[in-house]
Amino acid sequence: MEQKMTRREMMGAGVLLVGGVCGCRTADDPVAPRCTCCSTLDVEPESVTFGPGGLTIDLLKAPSLREVGNAAYVVNKDKALELIVVHAEVNRYCVLSRLCTHGGQVISFNRERGMLQCNNFNHSIFELNGNVWKGPAEKPLKSYSVVLIQEALVISI
Ligand code: FES
Repeated sequence: MEQKMTRREMMGAGVLLVGGVCGCRTADDPVAPRCTCCSTLDVEPESVTFGPGGLTIDLLKAPSLREVGNAAYVVNKDKALELIVVHAEVNRYCVLSRLCTHGGQVISFNRERGMLQCNNFNHSIFELNGNVWKGPAEKPLKSYSVVLIQEALVISI
């Protein structure tokens, strides 16, 4: 049976896509979604402290980053800071801008791919060093220096 969208439904879908909501959310197949994007959480705020030239994440207070394959956002609007932190391997973390260089939409960590994926429907994909793996984005994500000192990540910003 053929189903047609009303004009109003089409407009609504267009608004969702233009607004940067991932098309995965509107996929018709709820059993097998096309990707795992849009699932990155914020890091626990109590784990973050800011200092001169950088910030520190106390991993003992950040269970969101405990396991390899986890990722979390660090957002501070006052400092115009929008980061994604990925626990890439044992004792290796990557910190990058969480804003897609194509249109500024938020990216998420796609655990299955091991890559960063734009939440917008165009789905640019970036490697963990920030390089573009698939466009439409052309420029790499900004990456930040991060050092693991005991149980803390020290990130230069
Ligand atoms: S904003 Fe267009 S692909 Fe990310």
